[in-house]
Amino acid sequence: MASEATRWPSKATPDRRSEEHMFVIAGATGNTGSVVADTLLAQGKKVRVLVRDAAKGEAFRKRGADVFVLPSLDDEAGLTRALTGAEAAYILSPPDVASSSFLADRRKTFDVVKRAVDASGVGHVVLLSSIAAHRDHGTGPILSVAYAERVLRETKAKLTFVRASYFLENWAPVLAATADGKLPTFLPADLTIPMVATKDIGLVAAKALLEGPPSAKVDIIELAGAEDESPRTIAAHLSTILGKPLELDVAPLDAVVPVFTSFGVSVDAASLFREMYAGLQNGTVAFEGNGARFVRGSTGAEAVLRGLLGKG
Ligand SMILES: NC(=O)c1ccc[n+]([C@@H]2O[C@H](COP(=O)([O-])OP(=O)(O)OC[C@H]3O[C@@H](n4cnc5c(N)ncnc54)[C@H](OP(=O)(O)O)[C@@H]3O)[C@@H](O)[C@H]2O)c1
Repeated sequence: MASEATRWPSKATPDRRSEEHMFVIAGATGNTGSVVADTLLAQGKKVRVLVRDAAKGEAFRKRGADVFVLPSLDDEAGLTRALTGAEAAYILSPPDVASSSFLADRRKTFDVVKRAVDASGVGHVVLLSSIAAHRDHGTGPILSVAYAERVLRETKAKLTFVRASYFLENWAPVLAATADGKLPTFLPADLTIPMVATKDIGLVAAKALLEGPPSAKVDIIELAGAEDESPRTIAAHLSTILGKPLELDVAPLDAVVPVFTSFGVSVDAASLFREMYAGLQNGTVAFEGNGARFVRGSTGAEAVLRGLLGKG
């Protein structure tokens, strides 16, 4: 049987590369953006990575990506240029936990993103959002992506919101304490919640970009990990990896602000994190359900923890 290509009169071969869809990836040097960029490049897709520093884009350039140096997502003219001609874009809310006006800064960024999306005409935006982004209070830093979802809905673009749960990589900063047989946490020992590997977030976002815009205005994906976890199950995974028992060291909510500020987080941002931990405990920080697609990643907690400990 004649193949699709031989059924039609042949035309002059067009410039395939200029016809290809281009995908723009913000945060390409980060946990999730790097997976999105790697996945698309591995499939031979035309990719433009946004980096703040040209040197950090070098590895992507060598693999065929167009490297666009954009010092900040707040640069409206630059972001508009970066998005122009793109089929779709992966956008995240860049974390700046030293800011003393965390939410106001993020709102300003997404006002810029909103205008750049419309001015560029990009047709599909995949936003890294968060569990509980449907709520307008009691979720701390998650309010920043709640705002991002709201303003992006006002653009002409089709949207995919990847509402990721608690990152398994959030355990990284406390792993040094395992040398003393401890696992510090602000979560109650047996609070079982969805926790996801950033690799799975990147894979889900890449899939959404490749599948193209949803038929409706917005597709919401609520993304959990392979299994829900608690501090106790995380400690058990770590005990298996390290071959020794670990004791959970559960700190009260009142310790969040002093501990976070001791690591350079602003009082403003630390107070938001306190609210988020409280929200995880009282059920405010939870998936919406209600029409969203529930998806589980496939990467287990143990694999992520092994990687974080350099024992992968
Ligand atoms: N932690 C959680 O449990 C959780 C849960 C749900 C959603 N989230 C969301 O996930 C986000 C973090 O995602 P991630 O882990 O993939 O990021 P990440 O690894 O922290 O990387 C941040 C990326 O953004 C870039 N960046 C930083 N500031 C920027 C700015 N002002 N303008 C443009 N780019 C900037 C960084 O570039 P450089 O390499 O140059 O620094 C880097 O590529 C959070 O901000 C939050 O919105 C987090």
